[in-house]
Amino acid sequence: MSRPKRIGVLTSGGDCPGLNAVIRSVVKCSTRQGWEVYGIPYGTDGLIEVARANTKPEDLKLKEHGYNIPGLLQGLDVLQFLSGSVLGSLSKGDTDKFADDIIKGYELLQLDGLIAIGGDGSLDIIYNLAQKGNWNLIGIPKTIDNDVPFTERSVGFDTAVDTVTEALYDLTFTAASHERVMVVEVMGRDAGHLALHSGIAGGADIILIPELTPTLNDAVLEEICETIASFRHEKRKFALVVVAEGVKNYEGKKEKSIGEYLAKQIKDYSNKLCALDRKQFCGMDEVDTRVTVLGHLQRSGTPTSADRLLATSFGRAAVDLIANQEYNRLVVWRNGEVQTEPLDQVIDLVRKCHRENRCPSPVNPNGFMVQTARSLGIYVGDLTPSLNGEPRNRVSITTFSSNSKC
Ligand code: F6P
Repeated sequence: MSRPKRIGVLTSGGDCPGLNAVIRSVVKCSTRQGWEVYGIPYGTDGLIEVARANTKPEDLKLKEHGYNIPGLLQGLDVLQFLSGSVLGSLSKGDTDKFADDIIKGYELLQLDGLIAIGGDGSLDIIYNLAQKGNWNLIGIPKTIDNDVPFTERSVGFDTAVDTVTEALYDLTFTAASHERVMVVEVMGRDAGHLALHSGIAGGADIILIPELTPTLNDAVLEEICETIASFRHEKRKFALVVVAEGVKNYEGKKEKSIGEYLAKQIKDYSNKLCALDRKQFCGMDEVDTRVTVLGHLQRSGTPTSADRLLATSFGRAAVDLIANQEYNRLVVWRNGEVQTEPLDQVIDLVRKCHRENRCPSPVNPNGFMVQTARSLGIYVGDLTPSLNGEPRNRVSITTFSSNSKC
């Protein structure tokens, strides 16, 4: 009699809400097929521990709910509601150095397939190991950045959008009471999806994303000041400004906190404009600005129902692929349904983009969401060519006299 199929599941890279919902779905769907599921702790590090006999394979076996709650709560199926990863995750590690151990660990577990839940970077690393070890790999995209190519949605994005949206809502009232400009710095690495979506949903007045305002140059700063000044002249004394962490400073360099930098620039730049006799900007240095850096709050939070549904569908699709012996594929969400893509094509694109220092799945500057923001009057930057043919926000359109007081 042949032994039951054995599959592994791991989470790798930065965590996000919805990982546990994927794990739960994988375990439920697999055990219903009579398979065994091994939950590998801390990404590929867990395989090293198996290779070094620090972990026994049987200890990694996941049960129906993927975890055990003791006492009266035993049997409660709460896994999909919890953020984080019950397996632990890993964003650093020297997989090249330990590749032999990792492959040995996989072989000791006698896995017939591995489901890796990761972002573009971690899927790239695991794909490389899978090639070396001849593994049957299935990838599931997760990241609050939503920048995995070929998928419209990654697990975790929807919840993060909700978290930021709620923060913007909460900040609106204190902003209004104190007539302040609230600058909110949002994660997303090199992509602006999170800032754009939550900015629109949360009622932002200005949304700055790397795809449309890669640097806070003269043109961008002037338009930001202009937007805030026009509000103030219309008696709306507060404003909500969302800035994605991927936006760079005036010199095109990364700031430790682009939010803090921007808040200062709003004052400094208004002063510069005022010194150039642009009267409407005078006095704007008195505008009270405050910065909120939402940070890792965006990575946690109870997964939304949309994320749970996505995670659950992705987990089920990954198990189906293994059942049909269709390996080396990425499960994706496109046109309202789950589809799959060959992992080699996904990874080729990811590597090319990383080599060229580009985001593998940026916001479409002419896409529906950007158009929606513009239609609402939200300032999102303007890449339309200026008179000299350059994108407007990539050239300096304001020349200051060297003696202007700044
Ligand atoms: O990729 C997810 C992400 O949260 C990014 O948005 C952010 O830049 C980064 O991870 C933060 O990483 P860490 O948790 O290592 O600080």
